Amino acid sequence: HPHSDRIAEILEAHRGLEGPLLPILHAIQEAFGHVPEAAVPQIAKALTMSKAEVHGVISFYHDFRKAPAGRHVLKLCRAEACQTMGADAVAEQIKKALGIDWHETTPDGRVTLEPVFCLGLCACGPSAMVDGRLVGRCDESVLAEVAK
Ligand code: FES
Repeated sequence: HPHSDRIAEILEAHRGLEGPLLPILHAIQEAFGHVPEAAVPQIAKALTMSKAEVHGVISFYHDFRKAPAGRHVLKLCRAEACQTMGADAVAEQIKKALGIDWHETTPDGRVTLEPVFCLGLCACGPSAMVDGRLVGRCDESVLAEVAK
């Protein structure tokens, strides 16, 4: 597959490391913006794990993407303090407006929606992050920032 050489390099660079799977997955995501499905058997083989085990870890950690992200990444805080400030209702409105669910990207490749658990901005909830920038008191108007 197209990424196999780069992935082989990443696997080699982490050889002998204790608990190498997470650092390897992070390095792969950094290199490609996501963890390609085709990487899973290659990783499993190198670490003598089953493919199911590698898949399990990728699914468990919300940070790993299985597909490339859209042009914008909108993260909405799902943790408790923001929930008490109405984060759930805002998330529902945003999902409806975009027509996608968590971890999905709009069909035009414009925006990927991801949950996040506390951005350290609890006093100004509901909190969001747009392309790495923090947004407090988030409501549906945040969609203007991911409109293009
Ligand atoms: Fe949302 Fe802390 S709970 S920023």
